[in-house]
Amino acid sequence: MFIKSFKVDSPNVKYTDDEIQSVYNYETTELVHENKNGAYQWTVKPKAIKYEFKTDIKVPKLGVLLVGWGGNNGSTLTATVIANHEGILWATKQKVQQANYFGSLTQDASIRVGSFNGEEIYAPFKSLLPMVNPDDIVFGGWDISNMNLVDAMGRAKVLDIDLQQQLKPYMEHMVPLPGIYDPDFIAANQGSRANNVIKGTKKEQVQQLIKDIRIVVLWTANTESYSNVVVGLNDTMENLMALVERNEAEISPSTLFSIDCVLENVPFISGSPQILWFPVPPGTLVVNALSKLRVMLENILRACVGLAPENNMILEYK
Ligand SMILES: NC(=O)c1ccc[n+]([C@@H]2O[C@H](COP(=O)([O-])OP(=O)(O)OC[C@H]3O[C@@H](n4cnc5c(N)ncnc54)[C@H](O)[C@@H]3O)[C@@H](O)[C@H]2O)c1
Repeated sequence: MFIKSFKVDSPNVKYTDDEIQSVYNYETTELVHENKNGAYQWTVKPKAIKYEFKTDIKVPKLGVLLVGWGGNNGSTLTATVIANHEGILWATKQKVQQANYFGSLTQDASIRVGSFNGEEIYAPFKSLLPMVNPDDIVFGGWDISNMNLVDAMGRAKVLDIDLQQQLKPYMEHMVPLPGIYDPDFIAANQGSRANNVIKGTKKEQVQQLIKDIRIVVLWTANTESYSNVVVGLNDTMENLMALVERNEAEISPSTLFSIDCVLENVPFISGSPQILWFPVPPGTLVVNALSKLRVMLENILRACVGLAPENNMILEYK
């Protein structure tokens, strides 16, 4: 059976007028490789971690700034959200198509919430917690190319021509802010489109970005080459800031964006597979597949309302 919404009744979950508070006892197991009587053996130990989650009930107005806004991902995401917001219909070779969110994790997926008289009960993913309606997200961003979003959408060749034409009035005024171009970090074939760049030293670039940043930042620009994390050089915030001060070459554009987000207390999400400035210890669990990302997100959101994980993804996945 499918239900539209639910509330959790648990001593560990409290709903107030402003927030949902959840105390979540997370049980996992940890392995230890230890020497017992001269021989190494693996020991499995249960581990309990107590998390406290607090979720604002009031959904704020959300702005998302994309680094690489004029790329395939950036232009297509912006266009499809506008198409949904405006309820656009367009002709394809087969039929007249209407914009929808089919395939969207928050808008289209469902979760299992429990059972009722032995029957499995499912609810929309978006009923887990108060969530922004994607129709209401305001997009902006940076790109090293100054192409407006209508031309960028044409360059991406993702959407049907009829849809592109109808989106023109909504997107032709959208022009990315100048990005940080560093040819040492991305493929040489990007050089010809780099006509919209923040000039100056790394420190001046960081200062310019602080003026631009407002809400949530998502890196969807080209994948950069790997930056080495060197102990004593770029392994702590202090060392990193000293490198910025010295205009050191080893700092990539994505690192500069992430530094600004940390300084401004703005969430920074990387949609590209590069590793940023944090050292990742060997064996760190990294999610780099949409199906895994989905279950990881679902588990964290479930914990926020005191529901146990429904799958074998553990909370430590990054
Ligand atoms: N996580 C995922 O599932 C997933 C899926 C698809 C793509 N990706 C990643 O997303 C990224 C973008 O993919 P795409 O197909 O949109 O590529 P794209 O080449 O069409 O777009 C990248 C855009 O970034 C701009 N750019 C490059 N360096 C920049 C910088 N320093 N600052 C600002 N803008 C910059 C380019 O001008 C271009 O417009 C890639 O890194 C790709 O690997 C991830």
